[in-house]
Amino acid sequence: MTAATMDVIVSLCKRRGFIFQSSEIYGGTGSCWDYGPLGVELRNNIKRVWWRDFVHQRDDMVGLDASILMHPMVWKASGHLDHFTDPMVDCRECKRRFRADQVDEIDWTHYCPATKGNKFTIKAGEPCKHCGVRRTLCPECGKGELTAPRQFNLMFKTFMGPVEEDASVTYLRPETAQGIFVNFDNVLQSTRRKLPFGIAQIGKAFRNEITPGNFIFRSREFEQMEIEFFVNPHDRVDGRPADEAWHDRWIAECQAWFARYGLAADHVKLHEHARDELAHYSKRTVDLLYKFPMGWSELMGIANRTDFDLKQHAKFSGKSLTWFDEERKEHLVPFVIEPSAGVDRALLAFLLDAYQEEEVRGEKRVVLRFHPELAPIKIAVLPLLKKRPEIVATCHDLRHRLTRRWLTLYDDTAAIGRLYRRQDEVGTPYCVTVDVKTVGDPEKGETGDGKVTIRERDTMQQIRVPIADLETVFSRLLDAGTAWSEVAAAYPRAEG
Ligand code: GAP
Repeated sequence: MTAATMDVIVSLCKRRGFIFQSSEIYGGTGSCWDYGPLGVELRNNIKRVWWRDFVHQRDDMVGLDASILMHPMVWKASGHLDHFTDPMVDCRECKRRFRADQVDEIDWTHYCPATKGNKFTIKAGEPCKHCGVRRTLCPECGKGELTAPRQFNLMFKTFMGPVEEDASVTYLRPETAQGIFVNFDNVLQSTRRKLPFGIAQIGKAFRNEITPGNFIFRSREFEQMEIEFFVNPHDRVDGRPADEAWHDRWIAECQAWFARYGLAADHVKLHEHARDELAHYSKRTVDLLYKFPMGWSELMGIANRTDFDLKQHAKFSGKSLTWFDEERKEHLVPFVIEPSAGVDRALLAFLLDAYQEEEVRGEKRVVLRFHPELAPIKIAVLPLLKKRPEIVATCHDLRHRLTRRWLTLYDDTAAIGRLYRRQDEVGTPYCVTVDVKTVGDPEKGETGDGKVTIRERDTMQQIRVPIADLETVFSRLLDAGTAWSEVAAAYPRAEG
């Protein structure tokens, strides 16, 4: 079994239609990505299970879908206009821009004086092995001096309405969170919620990152799944201030969620932000880091934003954003715990963790061992012989029936062994094969047995199941989460 490199995943994603570079026919935009036929299914499945687990299945959560374009004062109040900046340096020669704090994390180009000026690309942070020099010039062109750092605001600016003037400036939201804060009172009034309760939102966010990269890990347009969980700071939970106890609960919930959908325990770890790392609004932030191919990096963050945002929006809007505590007979501003995850980073982590290469009968097998709920296609219906009309007709009939409940695909473009491998490579948990025994042979006067073969992706075991049982079998496997071994035990094995 091999751990996936980023190059392997990027190539698989393009080849099998998970992810394409945006505007590729025009040379592409390195910082934006398009999700293809399988990618959109995987992405929707991640969002669907997140919403189901954190909104529908909890009594203390509701959802929201706020607009991307908001009143510009939102960003003044939130601090994004003044603080949402990265230190940027420019190369005086090639004019490329870099984040000052990341320049030394980039592989660098070097014209080595010890080898008559030969050009080398040297690993980030390492010296040249010929002359011993460390990077001082632009890492990209290796020729230009870098300017002193200056602050660069990451928000995309645009204009609302037909006139491009200062009064109509607005921004693409850099986080979905603010849409929740400005709707706090609307949700409170319309749902009569009591603290603690949370508001969840999934939606696009935009950041003019100076150095996007690592495939979909850091892009300029991405999607977030965010929760703002409002708690009464005067309450005590588990003998501790409510915000601190709820913070730890949410850290545990998020960790458990990623484990539940397939991330290996030793690929995820917590990172406690040091004081000087904390965002301007945060009392405490803990990140979930994932072992990406480029090293441990942030998968999501869980922050205690205190009452910062609600107080800021109350101050700038002049509207009260409080909750009335019946017990203490006082209006208070709730504290907020914010679990904030990126859809794209979650998708990348699930892809990397699912990817395995193994040897089967002397041949390499690539398999994406996706959790069945995340798998883009749940069932593939395959004909053993596509020249037999009865087989093909039975396949189409089965596909139509099964796809009403589980996304099911029909494929007859190769021999069966290759069709199985193709489904393994995109993570389809089950294949159903229709063969001559299923439909019989009218010319020979043989009737079919009405049974099909189900093949399971991970074990490659095959069982023979009556067509009439298929819906019950898949309902157990895909809806109830019954183990394959338990379901398979009730049916005879089929030859592989
Ligand atoms: N509301 C809090 C917030 O936005 P963040 O740490 O800046 O916090 C939260 O972003 C999550 O959004 C990150 O953990 C990451 O998963 C995702 N994210 C942030 N910037 C991203 C980018 N440029 N590309 C892809 N995902 C990004």
